[in-house]
Amino acid sequence: MTRKYVVRTYGCQMNEHDSERIAGLFDADGMDQADSEDDADVIVLNTCCIRENADNKLYGHLWRLKDWKDEKDGRQIVVSGCMAQKDKDTVQAKVPHVDVVLGTHNVHRAAELLDHATTHGPITEILNEAVIDDHALFPSALPARRSTSFNAWVTIQIGCDNNCAFCIVPAVRGREISRPFDEILDEVRELASQGVTEVTLLGQNVNSYGRDLNLELRRSGEDVRVTTMFADLLAQVGAIDGIRRVRYTSPHPKDMRSDVLLAMASTPSVCEHLHYPLQSGSDRVLALMHRGYTGERYLSRLAEARAMIDDLAVTTDIIVGFPGETEDDFVRTLEVAAEADFDSAYTFIYSPREGTEAAGMVEHFVDPAVIADRFERLRTVVEHSAVIKHQARVGRREEIIVEGASRRNEGVLTGRTRQNKLVHFPHKEMLRPGTYAYVDITYAAPHFLKGELVEITHVPTHKVRVPLLSVS
Ligand code: 5AD
Ligand code: SF4
Repeated sequence: MTRKYVVRTYGCQMNEHDSERIAGLFDADGMDQADSEDDADVIVLNTCCIRENADNKLYGHLWRLKDWKDEKDGRQIVVSGCMAQKDKDTVQAKVPHVDVVLGTHNVHRAAELLDHATTHGPITEILNEAVIDDHALFPSALPARRSTSFNAWVTIQIGCDNNCAFCIVPAVRGREISRPFDEILDEVRELASQGVTEVTLLGQNVNSYGRDLNLELRRSGEDVRVTTMFADLLAQVGAIDGIRRVRYTSPHPKDMRSDVLLAMASTPSVCEHLHYPLQSGSDRVLALMHRGYTGERYLSRLAEARAMIDDLAVTTDIIVGFPGETEDDFVRTLEVAAEADFDSAYTFIYSPREGTEAAGMVEHFVDPAVIADRFERLRTVVEHSAVIKHQARVGRREEIIVEGASRRNEGVLTGRTRQNKLVHFPHKEMLRPGTYAYVDITYAAPHFLKGELVEITHVPTHKVRVPLLSVS
């Protein structure tokens, strides 16, 4: 009988993309996707360790899965992703009923390791760094089962060369390596030929894309400037026939240059949305974090972006309670956030990650009650600008891409605007996900808009596939 699997994904889009690869490898190995855990023979937990509590949650979940495993012979549990990379052998030492532990650098080995565990018993395989081999290096080079098929993530770079004091990513994802330019274009062309119309370029620090490739050429004696190639990549991906929307995440404010903004402004398919992580507004805290910019510099770049790109939506990440953050520092974050006028912000409470520089600043940890109060104050500021930004869209006609039926109401469809805003609108006939249409915006809430369908502008041509489960 065909064995079935479920992949549960925690954390970021990079992880979601890795999950697609794991699913694709299992499919290629003759397995099928299960509808639920009850129906599954294999459960993969693709883990994240970037923020609080992930450790407790993962081990709690693994212990709860013991009963699931005992219920049926042959059931297997796989732990992959950043937490596996960080904890290595500890995962199986703590939870012996786990069958396979694999890290962030050997996603390509998922199916082989599962087979190995079936014949030889539990296995942990963690590589310390990426292997230089096309298929191993970039998740996008592996077969994928895409969760939605009108849009696709495309990895352009893995790892990160920065050393933000709070961040575990460089430790678990390794050094920054850019994927060859032509390989990315080939993948996007292939996706477009399958009917994909929207791509999101993924990397930890996308706007430094290509610097390492040029450096390598330079070292091998070629006369090239050691410069980044992200602007060029955006323009060329955006020019591929059939690609109607290009998004990317995440850029680093310290590396944001005018050429990228210009490419956004002059490539019609690149969406008017910039995710621009602020982290803090205080120059002192930004320096402690090693972010490489000041509040002023962040704001001036943002003003430049808005001047160059009409109707640009801006979102951000902000951390509250970084070690040593004073009331004055925090007030400066509030000021910069208010001035930046964000469309929305992901706000995080600082969480010490073992092995990072900030985790060692124990004597400067901020009192949790103070953090909770600051978190609320920040939320008020960002919600204020979010509501105003949303209200400004009422009465406008926007092009959306249909994502599917609303989870709460079958009679309502959900779509996304170019600015990445969610729009709910009633429908008489079902529209396939991936359909483009104009809607008139009639109502604004802080986290979504409502509208009325005006006309369909593009009917999708991709094949439908089954969604993966996503946890957070
Ligand atoms: N604590 C809290 N937030 C963090 N982030 C990264 N590391 C931490 C941490 N240790 C946030 C940053 C980053 C986002 C993906 O997660 O804001 O941009
Ligand atoms: Fe982490 Fe900083 Fe790299 Fe982003 S740029 S992944 S926050 S180290």
